[in-house]
Amino acid sequence: MKENTKNNKLRGIYDDVMLPNYSPAHFIPEKAEGSRIWDKDNKEYIDFGGGIAVNSLGHAHPALINALTEQSKKFWHVSNYLTNEPAINLAKKLTELTFAENIFFSNSGTEANEAAIKIARKFHSSKGQKRNEIVSFQNSFHGRSLLNISLGSSDMHRNGFEPLIPGIRHGNFNDLASLEDLITDQTAAVIVEPVQGEAGVYAASKEFIKELRKESSKKGAILIIDEVQSGVGRTGSLYSYMDYDIEPDIVTSAKGLGGGIPIGATLTTKMVGESMQPGTHGSTFGGNPMACAVANEVIDIVSDQKFLDGVKEKESVFLNLLSEFEVSKVFSAIRSSGLWIGCDLIDRNANDVINLAYEEGLIMVSAGTNCLRLAPALNISNDEIEEGIKILKRILLGE
Ligand SMILES: Cc1ncc(COP(=O)(O)O)c(C=O)c1O
Repeated sequence: MKENTKNNKLRGIYDDVMLPNYSPAHFIPEKAEGSRIWDKDNKEYIDFGGGIAVNSLGHAHPALINALTEQSKKFWHVSNYLTNEPAINLAKKLTELTFAENIFFSNSGTEANEAAIKIARKFHSSKGQKRNEIVSFQNSFHGRSLLNISLGSSDMHRNGFEPLIPGIRHGNFNDLASLEDLITDQTAAVIVEPVQGEAGVYAASKEFIKELRKESSKKGAILIIDEVQSGVGRTGSLYSYMDYDIEPDIVTSAKGLGGGIPIGATLTTKMVGESMQPGTHGSTFGGNPMACAVANEVIDIVSDQKFLDGVKEKESVFLNLLSEFEVSKVFSAIRSSGLWIGCDLIDRNANDVINLAYEEGLIMVSAGTNCLRLAPALNISNDEIEEGIKILKRILLGE
């Protein structure tokens, strides 16, 4: 770290000029391709982090580069006074492939959730109903705006930012018995992640999501499925709700949808969305033609059943290789939902392991203090998986 490398020089400037809310790696990426990244000093890394489940098709995918390049030659931004073909095409695709009939585009998961809650409240208020409470769950993560940290339950995310948004009740994730009391005739919406990613890749049980649907319908509450991290092929289905035999009222999507370009989407039905008349909500950049052009390509590639089957196959490759660790008692638990894997470390801090992995040329992310989270590109090759796991073995087993 002390030598005067290109990485270190830039990283030193970072510490001086950036708000100290992140603590990024000591190296600075220079270029990337597929599931490999090279830093300013030309060191190579295998990427098991996927930009936290964002780089769904890896880095520098030719079809995405082409979509971005072609649109960038036409126009970049026209505002929502005008619309644009990539946005219309993407919305059409999303309605054809999911339960949804109407789409709102934004720029992030946080914004997609913000829109979802606003749509739900407007739905009720437009019917003259006063109900405005929101039900969320312990250990959930929905983003970093004041609304979304209020929906989440992390003290670290909330402390010092009070007052939080009122009217939010938190239930226990996967606790079926609590739902009847939790959701009432004052509940405007229930928001849930089908798989809690930031908590460490914990999937909701089928019974829980089905019961949530049942109770929400019974009490007239809108069911919002936050698929910001679980969506766009991450779990091996285009959207994870599809594995639960339910029809949501709203789904939020972001992260992998743009494959690395910022985009958020709130998907809903005409019935739920019809109160969102002109002037009720908006976003300067939402529906940006370059972002939508790239997302169109991502959806075309990821929605192919063969591609989605490949995600499940690669999950098995990971799990087979990782099972060798469990035997050795390095991990106390391994959970997976497609190419999204949480490995709980025994007696080790995840960030310490991640820092050691950088030295050896492997990039991972964490969830909580002791969980290594793997969320690689959905098209990572088997060779790259093996290579990355070999590095992990070296760090954790000394092999
Ligand atoms: C389930 C979920 N919802 C919302 C968000 C927030 O998305 P963004 O960081 O794009 O605002 C995240 C981000 O990790 C997430 O995992």
